[in-house]
Amino acid sequence: MATQGLKETALALVAEGKGILAADESSGTIVQRFESIAVESTEESRRSYRELLFTAEGMEEFISGVILFDETLRQSAADGKPFAQLLAAKGVIPGVKVDTGAKPLALAPGETVTEGLDGLRERLGEYADLGARFAKWRAVIRIGDGIPTERCIHANAHALGRYAALCQEAGLVPIVEPEVLMDGDHSLERAFDATRRTLRQVFAELAVQGVELEGTLLKPNMVLPGKDASTQASPEEVAEATLRCFHETVPAAVPGIVFLSGGQSDEAASANLNALNALGPQPWQLSFSYGRALQAPALKAWAGSGASVGAGQQAFLHRARMNSAARAGRYSADMEQLAAA
Ligand code: 13P
Repeated sequence: MATQGLKETALALVAEGKGILAADESSGTIVQRFESIAVESTEESRRSYRELLFTAEGMEEFISGVILFDETLRQSAADGKPFAQLLAAKGVIPGVKVDTGAKPLALAPGETVTEGLDGLRERLGEYADLGARFAKWRAVIRIGDGIPTERCIHANAHALGRYAALCQEAGLVPIVEPEVLMDGDHSLERAFDATRRTLRQVFAELAVQGVELEGTLLKPNMVLPGKDASTQASPEEVAEATLRCFHETVPAAVPGIVFLSGGQSDEAASANLNALNALGPQPWQLSFSYGRALQAPALKAWAGSGASVGAGQQAFLHRARMNSAARAGRYSADMEQLAAA
């Protein structure tokens, strides 16, 4: 049985009406996000943007936990309070991204393996001291000509298993994230097949490594056609395919599935999560751990201006509220109009 603390943390992260804010963009990724709003990425601009998100009043009503990047876990609000303490004081659980990125996989053209296992035990100890109670590791699986290969799926699943075991040893809940990308023009059936192959191997490796599923969360993609596919899918079709895939692969002992948004539009990410929850109770909580789908409108509204912090916070709170509703199957497109009015 998972130690009580891990299980409690995992359950708190998927508490009713709440989901996770992924604000763990690496230094490279945040440069791209800031370029889209013509803001220079500096230690201070990154800090003040994250402060906008974390201090949005009432975000704790919808957000159970925040995934931080290493740098952010070491930063503080303008008043000097470390972000991890600020979040914990609001009842929001701080977490941290611990992988060091996807690197080309040997002898596997076009595919990557996520690195970061060397020295991970020591880093996890430090992160726990800094206040992190959960962690995230993202594996990336690409669909294309002849890929994903078994080599790529196996290498990534193995790393996820090793990472998850180290997290539990350190008392942190591992979020296990095998992302099958929506890049490309593949069909929903190919996404289903690649996601099923991936999840089968991931859970096999978690078992080999002795990971206790009650103290683990899964962060997968939804089963979707590629974003350039000529045939797109309705939220109902996405929900049906996604659940069919998970019923075959995800053990019921996993307390929650927290989806990534992966490049879906904000509203599509809410509509698809809603359709998933509208299908009734499942063995696992179905929640969100969105990055772009929670932050894109907030970034745009803020655009680097101190005068627009309030507008950025309102935009973030709106998306958090929409996804909280979707978590209960109570989201509808009308709710977007009401907010705009
Ligand atoms: P997106 O929701 O933008 O895909 O980000 C989630 C995440 O944490 C990816 O690792």
